[in-house]
Amino acid sequence: MPHQSASAHDLTGTWRIALPRRGGATIVTYLIFHGADTAFDGTVIINDAVEIPMRRPHFEQGEGCFSIDWNADYRVRREDDRLRVIISPHRGDSEETLADRVPAELTRPVAPAPLPAFVPLPPNGLALSPPMGWSSWNHFADRVDDRVIRETADAMVASGLAAAGYQYVNIDDAWAAGRNAAGEIIPNGKFPDMKALADYVHARGLKIGIYSSPGPRTCGGYEGSYGHEEQDARTFAAWGMDFLKHDWCSAVRIYGQSAGNLRASYLKMGRALAACGRPIVYSLCEYGYGRVWEWGASAGGNLWRTTNDIQDTWESMSAIGFSQHPHARWAGPGRWNDPDMLEVGNGGMTTEEYRTHFSLWCLLAAPLIAGNDLRNMSADTLAILSNPEAIAVDQDPLGRPAQRITVRDNVEIWSRPLQDGAFAIGIFNRGDLPARDRITWPELGLTAAPVVLRDLWLHKNLAPEASGFATNIPAHGCVLLRARATPPNSSTPPPT
Ligand code: GLA
Repeated sequence: MPHQSASAHDLTGTWRIALPRRGGATIVTYLIFHGADTAFDGTVIINDAVEIPMRRPHFEQGEGCFSIDWNADYRVRREDDRLRVIISPHRGDSEETLADRVPAELTRPVAPAPLPAFVPLPPNGLALSPPMGWSSWNHFADRVDDRVIRETADAMVASGLAAAGYQYVNIDDAWAAGRNAAGEIIPNGKFPDMKALADYVHARGLKIGIYSSPGPRTCGGYEGSYGHEEQDARTFAAWGMDFLKHDWCSAVRIYGQSAGNLRASYLKMGRALAACGRPIVYSLCEYGYGRVWEWGASAGGNLWRTTNDIQDTWESMSAIGFSQHPHARWAGPGRWNDPDMLEVGNGGMTTEEYRTHFSLWCLLAAPLIAGNDLRNMSADTLAILSNPEAIAVDQDPLGRPAQRITVRDNVEIWSRPLQDGAFAIGIFNRGDLPARDRITWPELGLTAAPVVLRDLWLHKNLAPEASGFATNIPAHGCVLLRARATPPNSSTPPPT
């Protein structure tokens, strides 16, 4: 029989891509297509981890095109019984590969392991102010290695960021190789000796963090802690880890997104950390599923992501940052809402926008986890990340995140009470043109003009008028203020 060429538009079926990754891992991705001819849809499963719907699927010049959230754009072309695939990740370089057709059964998730009955964990006493540090993901993604971590620790000290309060140097995804015969998780070739690396970071007066998943695979397709929670907690403690980011990823295919399953899964690792003999800050990363802010602390968490991944754009940052007020009341010392790591200095926003990003995160009492290359920072980036007066707002011991108190056209005013009776105030302009706004003192909860009004970016005191404060705000910019209504020594307790 003559060889029959498949129709270019027939993508139907399950297709498997195997891609080698840094550190010796192989990432398996399944593309599952439904429908063909003129239209299709489907899902992408990345190494049993995430199952993501195809967005905007359509044909363009004989190629099937779609994207998947917070990850990549795909183009596929049918070549007989294979697909030629071009993947353009949102961070990193495009690559071209071939996909083979496989039976659909291959993509079945593993059977769920039983989850523990929920008994709340007591606070672990850590992270009494929002954790400050750095994480590899936003800038380095899977290019992180031992050298990057050592050089970042050095840069954190040399740049003055350590002195400004930054402490954690966190390895995000892409460090694990798999497990040894004893079931212990082992690092890949990029991390020859985790204990020695932790010692190096500790010797600089800093702390070090690691990353795993409640599922069998991390979001990048590396080894996760599924079924090995206690063993991995002991391993992380033995290496000297001080922080664990535990990323839901492949657990979603096993346990879904219900609050009950999320809480019990996170409790498993929470208990394991509590029993591992080393204080380890516990960072839950499940993108805000199941209203995590309501129960994250009872599962042992010190911080929990409230949103999907941040991108280095004004749209992403502002959409996340300005929507955080509903869960403000759940945060406090030892338990923080985490609107994701900082993008300051990564190049996708203007200096003005990065200043807005940082101001907003400080008002929100968010963890300040820098995500740029600390070894190569501009003076502007360093000045933003190390602004002591903004950091003091973030780290204020009262631990009360800001509330949005006014929205006027594109201007938003956010305010948080500070321990000494002062208020930190952000006047933000979300618009594309410069704005002018006037706030009155009663609007801020002050009965009279403040005795001290300070601009925390200009680092100078302003002269408060009796009735209020008028200011210009650049497009996408902000004015960050500290206002104290009473003299320093007669501070009244903040309202509850
Ligand atoms: C998820 C997380 C990110 C990062 C990546 C790593 O997307 O939300 O912060 O850890 O996984 O693969």
